[in-house]
Amino acid sequence: MIDNHRQTNIILTGFMGTGKSTVGRLLAKDLKMDFIDTDVEITELYGPIINIFENEGEEVFRNYEREMSRQLTLRAHTVISTGGKLMLDPVNAKLLSACGRVFCLEAPVQELIQRLEKEQQEKQRPLLNANNFEEQIKELSAARRNHYAVFEQVKTKGCSALEVAIEIRKRFLSSNAT
Ligand code: S3P
Repeated sequence: MIDNHRQTNIILTGFMGTGKSTVGRLLAKDLKMDFIDTDVEITELYGPIINIFENEGEEVFRNYEREMSRQLTLRAHTVISTGGKLMLDPVNAKLLSACGRVFCLEAPVQELIQRLEKEQQEKQRPLLNANNFEEQIKELSAARRNHYAVFEQVKTKGCSALEVAIEIRKRFLSSNAT
């Protein structure tokens, strides 16, 4: 049993396409925890992310992420899948790290390219457009690599979402065991 004196939330971070939302949903179901996806929440409140970037600009989206992070500190017993850059904001990272255990999903860039290509129909990502898709992924992931590296890493190369969820569950439960 997990009590309030321990880290009751699980926070998933990592680059776009690492599987945060799918893994998060599986984990929440398995651990009978609530599930929140920050991109879905922001979309419900303010409309599609692609429109926010286009009409209001990226900085407005990042402010929505900051507001969401403040609100998420009130949550307990929740798996929180965060948008790819949310935890790279130091204030967001500090707030959420204080109320949950953070796992960073990681995959080699070639695998990210393949996964993100497949996902293009399901999720429109304003930072990736069709013209130089591969280049953008390579550049962004290289620029962010060191920032993700500060979080506990979970390798996803060649793993199914279920396998990744099982690995995180194992680590989370062992840290919460008496
Ligand atoms: C972003 C990642 C996206 C979404 C937005 C910006 C980023 O979330 O928040 O398009 O800057 O990495 P996913 O990581 O879930 O794709």
